[in-house]
Amino acid sequence: MAVDLLLGLQWGDEGKGKIVDVLTSNYNIIARFQGGPNAGHTLVFDGMKHVLHTIPSGIFHEDAINLVGNGVVIDPVIFNKELEKLELQNVDYRKKLKISRKAHLILPTHRLLDAASEAAKGKAKIGSTLKGIGPTYMDKTGRNGIRVGDLELEDWKTRYRNLANKHEAMIGFHNVDIQYDLAELEEAFFKAIDVLKTIPFIDSEDFIFKALEDDHSILAEGAQGSLLDIDFGTYPYVTSSNTTAAGACIGLGVAPSKIGDVFGIFKAYTTRVGSGPFPTELFDEDGETMGRVGHEFGATTGRPRRCGWLDLVALKYACQINGVTQLMMMKADVLSGFKTIKVCTAYNYKGDVITHLPFNIEAHNVSPVYTELKGWKADLTGMTKADELPSELLDYIDFLENALNIPIKIVSVGPDREQTVFR
Ligand code: GDP
Ligand code: IMO
Ligand code: MG
Repeated sequence: MAVDLLLGLQWGDEGKGKIVDVLTSNYNIIARFQGGPNAGHTLVFDGMKHVLHTIPSGIFHEDAINLVGNGVVIDPVIFNKELEKLELQNVDYRKKLKISRKAHLILPTHRLLDAASEAAKGKAKIGSTLKGIGPTYMDKTGRNGIRVGDLELEDWKTRYRNLANKHEAMIGFHNVDIQYDLAELEEAFFKAIDVLKTIPFIDSEDFIFKALEDDHSILAEGAQGSLLDIDFGTYPYVTSSNTTAAGACIGLGVAPSKIGDVFGIFKAYTTRVGSGPFPTELFDEDGETMGRVGHEFGATTGRPRRCGWLDLVALKYACQINGVTQLMMMKADVLSGFKTIKVCTAYNYKGDVITHLPFNIEAHNVSPVYTELKGWKADLTGMTKADELPSELLDYIDFLENALNIPIKIVSVGPDREQTVFR
């Protein structure tokens, strides 16, 4: 048995949560391998909408085990709120949720440091989700972090205090006005730690190794998107983890030879939330229409998402870095009614036309070269079979498949589980 991966190929919010939920019935284990509550993964079924931040998107299925892997960073307070919501929906998470002992904890002061760092950057801010992601991964690589397994040790609170004190000094160093009541934040944090401890902490790499030996099937659920990868994204406007395929090996303890299919998810257009370059961004009526029809507001922060046409140069790059074996096109329904569909097939770059992603894709370096295709009028949201899809959409799909040389196996035509067309 191998571990299949499901990854976002753009700047996040491609619809990963929806597709993990759709595919969970094929798997015994769903495992998150990186990121933290910066993620917002939306699932819609039976007329209800659910947003998950840390908990894997297989949690609503009866049988699958949902693992929070070692590469994830956990904010106990947010995790606790997610559990409370599951409880309200009568989801019996206790028997199907497990946490890696090696996952790192987001402390209240990590969140404050994130806010201080962003405030100090002023206009150059990353536009982070303010969930403390950057500072927590900095402490991980700086070898100062506190891990879930540490909560089982006697001295963790002493280590906590020392680290929190250091963070407070660092907040002061930023010289910005951040108001906070640490005692209040800590009260909520320690209460949430008690709840976290009711979920089994496991040696997750061993769990996964044995599961593979026993022929159990595993789907690794990515968070964020490939263009937010710390190494391969639009640095410094990225997140602080490896969101790409190799991140799953590190974030779960799976050898590269054990990776099976790599499912790459992309929107039929592009969105981005937060700062950073975005060559195909639209500032016109078309962009406004995409945002309005696609309800493009961040699932974690509620911020409006920036919208633009599909960037095939960036998509090809993401497919190469990840070794994508199957593609899934999301939100095709949002493009219904556009007379023309534009696809960026190359960049104007320093007097040349190029088809690869250069070091810097800021607007002063790069402008998109578009190919135009005919749009379609039909409402897709009730379609369930590939042969119902309009010919112009099939032409768009053909165009992308030929350019990328990877099959598009799913076309998503609405947020609901059922609004999924398999090809
Ligand atoms: P994720 O972070 O990749 O899981 O994606 P998000 O949940 O942040 O954002 C995707 C948004 O699009 C959510 O509001 C989904 O409910 C919605 N969505 C997913 N697939 C489709 C689709 O095919 N059509 C439409 N209209 N909405 C979709
Ligand atoms: P999902 O899993 C979209 C963006 C933030 C910011 C940058 C860094 O729902 O696709 P961070 O808080 O990670 O330090 O922010 O990354 N970002 C996301 N954008 N979807 C996400 O997750 C994101 N997680 C982080 O907006 O630009
Ligand atoms: Mg999201």
